[in-house]
Amino acid sequence: MTSTDPSGPPRPRALAFHGPLGEERAAGLTARLAGHRPATVLDIGCGWGELMLRVLAAVPGARGTGIDLDEQDLARGRALAAGRGLADRVEFLAEEATGTTRGPADLVLCLGASQALTGARPPRLVPEALGELRRLVRPGGRVLLGEGFWERPPAPVELARMWPDAAVSDHPSLPELVDEVVAAGFRPARIETATPAEWEEFESGYREDVEVWLAARPGHPLAAETRDRVDRQRGSWLSGYRNLLGIAYLTLVPQE
Ligand SMILES: C[S@@+](CC[C@H](N)C(=O)[O-])C[C@H]1O[C@@H](n2cnc3c(N)ncnc32)[C@H](O)[C@@H]1O
Repeated sequence: MTSTDPSGPPRPRALAFHGPLGEERAAGLTARLAGHRPATVLDIGCGWGELMLRVLAAVPGARGTGIDLDEQDLARGRALAAGRGLADRVEFLAEEATGTTRGPADLVLCLGASQALTGARPPRLVPEALGELRRLVRPGGRVLLGEGFWERPPAPVELARMWPDAAVSDHPSLPELVDEVVAAGFRPARIETATPAEWEEFESGYREDVEVWLAARPGHPLAAETRDRVDRQRGSWLSGYRNLLGIAYLTLVPQE
């Protein structure tokens, strides 16, 4: 390609997951969730649904439904499913997840996507999303929730470097998050949090292909806006939420 290439910057194909989720943790989560032999899996805000596909591959006969609004990520999910011989057991649906009538399912995945379940704003967003997850999981089933929390309360100067209008109320602390889980009618069977290495892999992988694209196309018509965007994203991470924003992976069991 040349600097006059009209196509835009690439999507982040270097990433297996759209979040700070490493291979080791993914393998453990897949094995444990598959161990419950779910017959049905519902993936809320699935993107390309990598973890759902891994669970389906590990549980012969299980059926999956992924819901998202991003057509390109859904198309990637369908292509991955076809490549792994799973196309007849999984649907990737372009649907609004708020108020969804899909489910209930034996296993519900909601990774970085609680905002897809409710129009509520923080601090009500997570409790409302948990209420929806409780509705969507079958008795005896499992929910895997990937959710943000503050490692410590950020100072105003730190919030100002994160994202527009960032506020302490955007996320709970980890103890508050787990309290919200219990209040919604779950027991937290497992509590895991993303490591710094998982964050670095995600943040780098998210922009790696775009940075390489930019380096080769300084005069591309989209170069300036793309450079601004990735510079803002990188600054928001390195000077803002790095070591402050955590991601918890909570394996939840609905309480009878
Ligand atoms: C951070 S991504 C996580 C994707 C995926 N769960 C994963 O971990 O790889 C959040 C996803 O939620 C989806 N989403 C946001 N709002 C939604 C809504 N109202 N209905 C369905 N999907 C939504 C976005 O399109 C996006 O793919």
